Amino acid sequence: MSKKVLLIGNGAREHAISEALMRSPQHVELTVIGSALNPKISDVAARYEVGSVTDLEFIQGIANDVRPDFAIVGPEAPIAAGVVDMLLENEIPSCSPMKTVARLESSKSFTRDLLAKYSIYGNPKFKVFFDEKGLEEMFDELGDDFVVKADGLKGGKGVKVSGDHLNGREEGLAYARECLAEGGRVILEEKLVGEEFSLMSFCDGVNTVEMPCVQDHKRAYDGDKGPNTGGMGSYGGANHMLPFLTMSDIVAAREITRKVAGALREETGTKFVGIMYGGFIVTARGVKLIEYNARFGDPEAMNVLPLLKSDFVDICESMIHGTLDQIEIEFEEKATVCKYVVPDGYPDNPCKGDKIEVGSVPDGVRAYYASVDQKDDGLYLSGSRAVAFVGIAESLEEAERLAQSAVGSVSGPVFYRRDIGTAELVQKRIDHMKELRG
Ligand code: AMP
Ligand code: GLY
Repeated sequence: MSKKVLLIGNGAREHAISEALMRSPQHVELTVIGSALNPKISDVAARYEVGSVTDLEFIQGIANDVRPDFAIVGPEAPIAAGVVDMLLENEIPSCSPMKTVARLESSKSFTRDLLAKYSIYGNPKFKVFFDEKGLEEMFDELGDDFVVKADGLKGGKGVKVSGDHLNGREEGLAYARECLAEGGRVILEEKLVGEEFSLMSFCDGVNTVEMPCVQDHKRAYDGDKGPNTGGMGSYGGANHMLPFLTMSDIVAAREITRKVAGALREETGTKFVGIMYGGFIVTARGVKLIEYNARFGDPEAMNVLPLLKSDFVDICESMIHGTLDQIEIEFEEKATVCKYVVPDGYPDNPCKGDKIEVGSVPDGVRAYYASVDQKDDGLYLSGSRAVAFVGIAESLEEAERLAQSAVGSVSGPVFYRRDIGTAELVQKRIDHMKELRG
């Protein structure tokens, strides 16, 4: 018997999702709706429709024609637009969350308030403002170390950190006023100092099962310099940990996610079904929550999904049926390093329409296609992160060497981060945490 699955999205993350689905021992008949044609996803799809992934009417038409057993949504925008709710109204279940619980990602103030209301550890000092009343006093309280956050989905661009994007209180105040004027709401919070990590969990509304830990690299250039990006690459250790984390850090993060799943259910009456992706930071005072996403991370999905030994279709159905506690979920004990090759000028002025050549991909490396156009005469850049290369090996050192050999073989107007997953950068993270923990 075959399973009909509808996948929404067309990036490298969705390429990794499609691969995990197709590896299932159950026969999968895949329908894809993407905003562009991903050549690698298209190779395995039974049907591939190109159009807006937030156009509910368009998606409904295809979904009702196909009648999939379930859907999975890659990016945040269609989830926040209510695609899962629409599919449910059409009696098509999804292993992605409904709009009301996806506020976990789409509203930073909702999540901060939820943790506070249910006394869940992990919030920094924070306050949500709807007008300027008390704003200056909060700046006084926080001093030099503050973060100003616009509410809503901003592709990571709504967050400004003092000392980084904001030079002093006056700039902070000006940006907070701008957020108020634009969105009627702003969050001002304490700046946390430490090392960030991603812990993604499968969630069926009650049970949460975590995946291996990963560290992403948001800055565009080596040495964590330059503008913020969607993520330039990521790594994870063979023991599913990161070298600067302790087991109690993971337990703390896991507990936050488990309690948040319960709080979400109680607060909204709706179960969160899908991926709870916690962006955590380990500080001198333990693990704190930066934010949640309601989907797989990109690039993090490319670190964890290739290691999945269990049947991904089973996991998806267990999330939908609330039976995650009844299945074994196993990942290979391998280290992974993912490096994205991106167009010159990315993220601010990326070149577009130029041809690139991908060399032969060595054994032990997977290539995941993102923002590229496959034409008859080759592969072209389409303006965002282009191809992710993932090295998979027994050690981080070997995984890095593999990813590097592949990413370095791409020719054309592109760049990548040389330092992701290198012993030198990993040691810097370890030393940083040692210093903070004292
Ligand atoms: P977010 O969109 O909430 O993930 O924020 C984007 C980035 O801003 C995070 O990955 C952090 O590097 C930084 N950030 C957000 N909140 C804080 C905080 N309270 N303290 C320090 N850095 C933060
Ligand atoms: N890794 C960043 C993101 O997926 O939002």
